Amino acid sequence: MIRPVATGQVIDQEREEREAFAGVLRFYELAKRQEWQVRDLPWGELPPIPEGKGSPQRRARRRDMWRSVLTQQLQADMLACDMASQLLNIAPDPEAKLYYSTMVQDESRHTEAWLKLIGQVGGEGERDPHLDTLAHMFLEADSLEEKVFLMQVFFERLIIPRFRLIARSSRGTILEDLCNRLAIDDGIHHGAGMAYERVLLENATPNVRQTLVDAANRMLPEFAAHVLWRPKAREMIGQLMEARDRERLKTELNHGVRLAKSLGLDVSDVQLPA
Ligand SMILES: [Fe+2]
Ligand SMILES: [Fe+2]
Repeated sequence: MIRPVATGQVIDQEREEREAFAGVLRFYELAKRQEWQVRDLPWGELPPIPEGKGSPQRRARRRDMWRSVLTQQLQADMLACDMASQLLNIAPDPEAKLYYSTMVQDESRHTEAWLKLIGQVGGEGERDPHLDTLAHMFLEADSLEEKVFLMQVFFERLIIPRFRLIARSSRGTILEDLCNRLAIDDGIHHGAGMAYERVLLENATPNVRQTLVDAANRMLPEFAAHVLWRPKAREMIGQLMEARDRERLKTELNHGVRLAKSLGLDVSDVQLPA
């Protein structure tokens, strides 16, 4: 039996719901426009990383330091590959799926670029154990809301200042070029996550909201430990930079707290590692 009024209501409701996803679709289009290729990097034209000055020993130490920076970023992007494909597979909404299909491509392109760059500077360094812990938290989070929140609202946003910092310390290298591209891409990943999380949280119960706050409280201290972590190769420089790093980290985490607040979540009780 045809009931025009009811059908009209259903259509209206559907249209409204689809409109809520317009923000997510905009990030899909932005991601397509921003797409680049690993071959676009200035391979062979610029040095891969800063070459350094001084004695051969000093230069070797600097090189090890850079290798550990690159390894950490490779590790982060390989984790992002896992996360992006998980999100693609569990997101039920067609707009979000479309968007995540671009994020999977971005993260695997980032990984490809790090692998090539690391190949040019003598191979991988030590793994960051905190990134492994974060990977478990993200991949094993229970709900889609929690995964988007941890990965895109926080991680993708908090990592952007890291890229800017690395780019500033590696002027005139392929590494600088790559970091500038990644800062833009991760800006899109973060923006898309904010747009999607907003839709997901529209009808979320207080219970779901509380699990997100708890998850943020578990994740942020681990993120802080990741940022402050120094492998052997960077221990010396690490100590010199630690005070400045802590200051910077505090600003970044405060920004994360404000972002959560804009989604209606209060995570201001988060503790920094001592
Ligand atoms: Fe990435
Ligand atoms: Fe990303």
